[in-house]
Amino acid sequence: MIGVFDSGLGGLSVLAALVDALPSANFIYFADTAHVPYGNKSEEQIQCRVLAIGEHLASHDCDLLVVACNTATTTAVQALRAAHPGIPVVGIEPGIKPAAQETRSGRIAVLATEATANSQRLQHLIRQHAGNVEVFVEPCPGWATHVEMLQLGDPALAADVRARIEPLLEKGVDRIVLGCTHYSFLAPLLTEVVGTRAQLVDVAAAVARQTQRLAGGLAHGSGLLQLHASAHPERLRAALPRLHLGHLAARVI
Ligand code: DGL
Repeated sequence: MIGVFDSGLGGLSVLAALVDALPSANFIYFADTAHVPYGNKSEEQIQCRVLAIGEHLASHDCDLLVVACNTATTTAVQALRAAHPGIPVVGIEPGIKPAAQETRSGRIAVLATEATANSQRLQHLIRQHAGNVEVFVEPCPGWATHVEMLQLGDPALAADVRARIEPLLEKGVDRIVLGCTHYSFLAPLLTEVVGTRAQLVDVAAAVARQTQRLAGGLAHGSGLLQLHASAHPERLRAALPRLHLGHLAARVI
């Protein structure tokens, strides 16, 4: 069993890539809907939640964990690995490296939660992979909550997206890193603003490839999906078609 988790619905964007890469694997997806969003929480609170979810998934026979949340990875992946030394853990971090390699203008932007945007880990990633390019870090408070409430067409959200993205484009940014898994569901809205002026960078497929490398025999299951949540688990299944992931519903047991 492969355990995948996020603060809420955002990690379903990673789950979709995982199912594409490992169609026969069995997955449990855990959404921490009683505590979403993580982006405005302290490191201590996030670590505490990540360790509790790790326990939950380990006790449900997960032999491989995927942290489908940049904020949780940035803050707590080391603690999670230390708590489960026998279980491989794949994390997700903003795609600074591919963006820095691909940029032609030498300017990239990273959209992230406040916690990720303010983290030392992000600064480290920028120093490590983007020494020669200019990086604009844009915290996007409230965006994950809009996704969580399935308010993808909210005019206030569209206005905020435009207000944050236009200035970045004016600075010459040509790669925009989606540094929060919830933002994958905002790709249509972002693309509407960005047009051909920049490309969005999403690393869900890269996370899926890394998981595939570690999966071994876990790749050969029955292709089933369990949906767990700390609050309102029934909403998770109902959200799938709303997020254009209706094809995953047939796997749910
Ligand atoms: N989906 C999460 C991430 O990738 C966090 C969203 C939130 O809970 O604030 O960072």
